[in-house]
Amino acid sequence: MMSVQDDIKKSINEVYESRTKKSKETAAIAEKYIPSGDTRAFSYFPPYPIYGDEGEGCYLIDNDGNRYIDFLNCMTAGIYGHAHPVIVKAQIAQVKKGIAHALPCDSQYQLAKIICDRVPSVEKVRFTNTGSEADLFAMRVARAYTGRDIILKMDGGYHGSSEYAQVNEIPDIFTSNPPQAYISSKGVPDVILQNMRVVDFMDLDAAEEVMKAEGKKIAAIIVEPVMGAGCGGEGSYEYLHGLRDLCDKYGALLIFDEVISFRFSMGGKQKLVDVQPDMTTFGKLIGGGMPIGAIGGRADVMRLFDPRVEGYVNQSGTFTGNALSMTSGVAAMQLLSEQELKRIDSLAAKLAETVNKKIKDLGINAYAEALGSMMAIYGTREKIENSRMAIKAMVNNGEFLRFLHLELLNNGLVCLSRGMFSLSLPMDDKIIKEAGGIICNALEVVASLCVE
Ligand SMILES: Cc1ncc(COP(=O)(O)O)c(C=O)c1O
Repeated sequence: MMSVQDDIKKSINEVYESRTKKSKETAAIAEKYIPSGDTRAFSYFPPYPIYGDEGEGCYLIDNDGNRYIDFLNCMTAGIYGHAHPVIVKAQIAQVKKGIAHALPCDSQYQLAKIICDRVPSVEKVRFTNTGSEADLFAMRVARAYTGRDIILKMDGGYHGSSEYAQVNEIPDIFTSNPPQAYISSKGVPDVILQNMRVVDFMDLDAAEEVMKAEGKKIAAIIVEPVMGAGCGGEGSYEYLHGLRDLCDKYGALLIFDEVISFRFSMGGKQKLVDVQPDMTTFGKLIGGGMPIGAIGGRADVMRLFDPRVEGYVNQSGTFTGNALSMTSGVAAMQLLSEQELKRIDSLAAKLAETVNKKIKDLGINAYAEALGSMMAIYGTREKIENSRMAIKAMVNNGEFLRFLHLELLNNGLVCLSRGMFSLSLPMDDKIIKEAGGIICNALEVVASLCVE
């Protein structure tokens, strides 16, 4: 006999499949040519993801013509909304002149200048095609600068897809507490572990212990000041200053990965907490929707990227600094202002308040938290401080989050399947009110799937 919970899941699945027939067909074809029918691990979800290539402001439209309020937001890169006219105009003008020429171009230094002007710790910038590459090169230059090999990272800290970044990319939730360094992805050799150390995010004592034991061998501490990709946890003022002090004491570099948290203020999260890292990595929003990454930092460290310097650090790439990404970034970055960022932060806070009120009424084991202009719904009441806690809650309450996500899709709202919502500039009070209503209704539908 089917339980009430089975009925709910069945009915959500049926509605999903009936609304997304074309996506289902595309998924079947795509799977013949692409493993999982989709080209990245994070965007797949069962039974199949929605397919589409159309967006308009803060809406996404799928192949079946369904329109969604877009909180997926191209994994936070889409802060400007889709097809912003100012960005589109700049992109078209550049496309007409060619996209990538393998020449340095004016828009490279223009975008670099915008970043330097906004982020006090950044004196020089180098571009990459992705945030992953930016993190890879930041770690490489830190090693070159210090002449040391070991990098200390946080359990569950996400720094893209390079070999080093695969160390505890998924937190070590099942094996040990405190976390041990391990490799999250198959195919990465164990030898990588020799040069990586891992501690919990927000555990300054653990970081200090590692530094006491091996500080003279540590090239850098790399940390997301807000564990956006790692599913939550905002670095406190004391913690981030504590990491700065540890790096100063032991002669290591501090790298802030602000690939997501650059949306927290015009100068990133570092400006809000008044910490000056030695290096910062950027990505996502700095390209105005085009693929991009950047490494910024102290001039004396960045100097090592200069090919005129003996023993320079090799950093290159066919599409690196291509004119289209650069032009698009320059146009897009002018659209940001402190006021606009604060406005969408406050929309995220309002949304979380609405959702929390509903969760309280339903009495379920969950809560919502606004993180700048993002919001997460966790399948726990426990305050999430690090990635390990977030993933544990996600595993424990997997069915609840999975069907909440599908139910939201069924009602015209798309977010990241793990319950992460990212806001964009075209959103306003009206849209947030509508979204709040959709989320509250969906919570009511899936409440009985939420476990303690
Ligand atoms: C904090 C953080 N660092 C690095 C990256 C990697 O950036 P990309 O996906 O552009 O390689 C991401 C991507 O989600 C990220 O969130």
